[in-house]
Amino acid sequence: MTRTILRGRVLTFVSEPQAIDDAASYRYIEDGAVTIDGGKIVAVGEFAPDDAAEVIDHRPHLILPGFIDTHLHYVQSQMIASYAGSLLEWLNTYTFVEEQKFSQQGHAGAVSAAFYDELIRNGTTTAVAYCSSHPRSVDAFFGEAEKRNMLMVGGKVMMDRNAPEALCDTAQSGYDDSKALIARWHGEGRALYAISPRFAITSTPAQLEASRALVAEFPDCYVQTHLSENDAEITYSMELYPGSPDYTGIYEDYGLLGPKTLLGHCIHLNHRETMVLAETGSVAVFCPTSNLFLGSGLFDRERLSKHSVRIGVATDIGGGTSYGMLETMAEGYKVLQLRGQRLNPFASFYMMTLGNARALSLDGTIGAIAPGNAADLVVLNAGATPAMALRMATIETLAEELFLLQTLGDDRAIAEVYVAGAKAKSTLGGL
Ligand code: GUN
Ligand code: ZN
Repeated sequence: MTRTILRGRVLTFVSEPQAIDDAASYRYIEDGAVTIDGGKIVAVGEFAPDDAAEVIDHRPHLILPGFIDTHLHYVQSQMIASYAGSLLEWLNTYTFVEEQKFSQQGHAGAVSAAFYDELIRNGTTTAVAYCSSHPRSVDAFFGEAEKRNMLMVGGKVMMDRNAPEALCDTAQSGYDDSKALIARWHGEGRALYAISPRFAITSTPAQLEASRALVAEFPDCYVQTHLSENDAEITYSMELYPGSPDYTGIYEDYGLLGPKTLLGHCIHLNHRETMVLAETGSVAVFCPTSNLFLGSGLFDRERLSKHSVRIGVATDIGGGTSYGMLETMAEGYKVLQLRGQRLNPFASFYMMTLGNARALSLDGTIGAIAPGNAADLVVLNAGATPAMALRMATIETLAEELFLLQTLGDDRAIAEVYVAGAKAKSTLGGL
């Protein structure tokens, strides 16, 4: 295979930016070159002519690591934008109805293909997904990822109560099906499995016990669930698990917390819960568009960071309202403004890339433009729409450009996407 050089303005992070002027947290190369060979990045530096390589010129655009989304439900792609008062009504009225369709042959394949198209359109090259409770939804999810050579994390939702019977598994079948799916998919190509008890409300103690057994048997797998999203959800969870000290305590009691555990939302945590997340190394996943859309509450990034809780950021499709990580961070910025917490644009772009890679313990593989990492990349055009071009004309700094991309950008600002070195989206042609 011949080497390819992407020429452009290269931006990649090395640590979490502590302030807007924390230049040590990133590497920015004005006339940069990312050299790709065999699907991997083999060099990054100043551009220099190289006759032995194919050069693709992306100037004046920015080249960044592909975006990472740490929580979404691909099976909700056809009920995104459903009109509901709050979480439990939304789940019962729309979500649990929609997800039943995944028992049908062919449905999961069609939805997953459209879902991946949308991810790529928006510059997301890795995502962590809940499938439905049906094993075939997981096969479709990973099968489509395999075709596209994408690093994806996902798992079969385990849910054995408080939902329509057609959607429920049992403690035993949830365990058996998850185990078979782990054997089939975990570590197969770029696929990684997430053990996925939906949340305390839809799992009996027997099912959380079965989840504990899976985690003990497969410590390499991720665990994903929902935590502390909504007041009514918290109250109901505590009624169902009266022996636990708080909502986090439920998952703690079943051995489900740890450095590979991703907890969606984490909005209304008390001090003990915060400390438990920090001590176990569990990841709190901020889902701003979903939290605003469902009226769930305002994520407290500063408090969690202060106590060293690991944080990821995500769309939460279909509670979330955009597939794009740019729009997600635009709304995240506004959520934090309402909390009096100002998020600088470097920190935003860190969160979408290296921050989320670290949340998944996948730094060293994705999330940064560095030799040895997969060549999963996005090329961003900050003048992609007339309104953006108009504003771009007055912009003088990289920080301003990033903030414009985040605030006004959408899939039109994603000029190119590379997955393992291959073009997945292109506005230059060649696809
Ligand atoms: N809690 C349990 N299931 C879900 C879901 O599908 N979406 C959201 N936002 N919260 C949940
Ligand atoms: Zn969710």
